[in-house]
Amino acid sequence: MKDMKHYCDVLIIGSGIAGLTAALAASDAGLDVIVVTKEPDLRESNTFYAQGGIVCKGVDDSPELLTQDILSAGAGISNPEAARILAVDGPRYVEEFLINTIGVPFSRSESGELELAQEGSHSRRRILYSMDTTGKAIEESLVKKVRQCGNIRILEDHTAIDLLTIPHHSTNPLSLYMEPRCIGAYILNNQDERVERIFSAYTILATGGLGRIFLHTTNPVCATGDGFALASRAGARLINMEYIQFHPTSLFHRDADGFLISEALRGERARLTTRDGAPFMDRYSPLGDLAPRDEVSRAIYEEMIKRGDTYVYLDIASFATIDIQKRFPAIYEKCLSLGIDIANEPIPVVPAAHYACGGVYVDARGRTSLKNLYAIGEVSGTGLHGANRLASTSLLEGLVWGMRAVRDISETFDEAKSYKESDIAAWIYPDKEEEVDPALIHQDWLSIRSTMWNYVGIIRTFKRLDRAKADVGYLINRTNEFYRKARLNPLLLDLRNGIQTALIVVEAAFRNRKSRGAHYIA
Ligand code: SIN
Repeated sequence: MKDMKHYCDVLIIGSGIAGLTAALAASDAGLDVIVVTKEPDLRESNTFYAQGGIVCKGVDDSPELLTQDILSAGAGISNPEAARILAVDGPRYVEEFLINTIGVPFSRSESGELELAQEGSHSRRRILYSMDTTGKAIEESLVKKVRQCGNIRILEDHTAIDLLTIPHHSTNPLSLYMEPRCIGAYILNNQDERVERIFSAYTILATGGLGRIFLHTTNPVCATGDGFALASRAGARLINMEYIQFHPTSLFHRDADGFLISEALRGERARLTTRDGAPFMDRYSPLGDLAPRDEVSRAIYEEMIKRGDTYVYLDIASFATIDIQKRFPAIYEKCLSLGIDIANEPIPVVPAAHYACGGVYVDARGRTSLKNLYAIGEVSGTGLHGANRLASTSLLEGLVWGMRAVRDISETFDEAKSYKESDIAAWIYPDKEEEVDPALIHQDWLSIRSTMWNYVGIIRTFKRLDRAKADVGYLINRTNEFYRKARLNPLLLDLRNGIQTALIVVEAAFRNRKSRGAHYIA
C-alpha cells in the first residue's frame, strides 16, 4: 500500500479564525503552508457559527479599561500579560487585517460608521458585529483569501489522528536523547480511510473547542475536543481545563440542537424572566442581566430548580428599542421556523456548554511546552480567560495569537531537520481491521455527553465528579482497546478524542477543590 507523505514549513490543523489567520500570515511571510480540516468544507468551524461579535475599541475606551474588564470576568486568575496583549494588539489587528486587508463586512450605520454593540461585563460599547452572523462574515472573508494563496495547500476531509513526535515515533533509539519535539502529524484521509504523514518544521493546533462532549451545547458537531486530546497524547501541558463556560441562553426547543441566542440581545436590553414573566437577574447581581456568564447561568439553573421549570424566558420583545428583525435576522428566522416570533413573544432558553476557558498551555508567542508545536484560538490556554471568559474575546484571541504564533515562527525559522525521515515510523495497520459499528459510537457519545452534563456541568459536587471519573475512565479503556484493532474512520477518531478530552476536564475539575468562575462546586 502506498505510503502517502506531504511536506511543509507550517502545518495548521483547524480552519477557524485562528487557523486561517495564521495561514495567511505564514503565506505572507513566504512560508509553505498546509491547512488540514476534518470537515469536507473549509468554512465549517466554531468561528462560522459565532453570532455576537468581536471586541474592538469603543468611544472613550482604552486598553486599560478592556484589560480591566477581562481580568474582572476571569475571576482573579486571568493572565494579566495575555489580557494586556489582547487589549493592545487586538483592535489594531481588527482594523488592519480584518477590515482593511480581508474586507470583513461589519455592520455600519447609514452614515457609514462602524456600529458597536454592548455585551455582559463590558464597561464600554465596543463590539463590532455583522448583524447576528459575525463569524460567518469573518470566516467567508478568510476562506476567500486563503483560496487565492498559491503557497497554502488545503486538505479538506482529512482528520488528524496523532501528532508526530520525537522520540515517540522514532525508530532510532538514540533519539531518546533529543529534546522532545513535534515534527508533523498522522492524518486520516476520510475518503479512502488510509493514513498519510505530514512532515512539517512547525505545527499549529487551531482545532477549536469541545462543547460536543456535553449533552447541551451551542457548539457545532465538529467541536469534539480534538486538539486537547492530540496535545495531551503528545505530552504537551494543559491548563485550566475545569473552567468550561456555559452560555446562559441557548434556545430551548426539541429541534434547536443548542442554537445560540446571542448575548447581544441582552446588550439590546432583553431581560431574563421566569415563565410567568418576572425578571429575576437583579436579585442575583448588581449588573442584572449583563452579569458575567457564570453568574447568569447559575441564576437560571437555580430559578429552574426552585420552580421545577425546564427553561426560563429571554424577553426582547417587551424591552428592546431597536428593530429586532433587522438587528438579529438569523436568530429571528431560526426562531420563527420553530414557531417563535421573537419580535412579539419571549424566547424559551436554557444554559448550554459554550467555551473552554483553558486549553493547551501557550506563552505570549503561542508556543506550547512541546518544541515546534504551537496552539492558537480556543484550543490554546493563553490564560486570557482565567476562570470565565469575557464575551466576544474569543474571535479576537484567535486573531491575535494566530498573528503572534506566525511572527515567532518566521523570526526563529529553521528548516534543518534534526532527524532522519527514514527513522520515523510509517503507520502500522492491524493485521485484520475490524469495522466500526456506528450504533456503538452513537451510544458511547450519549454516555459521555450525559455524564458530562449531569456530573461535570454548571453545578458540580465531588461525588458527581468521582462518578464521572469512573464512568469516563471505563469508556476510555473500552474505546482504546477497540481503536487498536479497528479500521479507522472519522467517527471513531472523534469519539476517541471526545472521550479523552472529557477525562481531561473531569480530572482537572476533580483536582480543584475551590469554586471559582465557571468551576462551581456545591
Ligand atoms: C454570543 O453571541 O452571545 C456569543 C459571543 C461569545 O461567546 O463571545
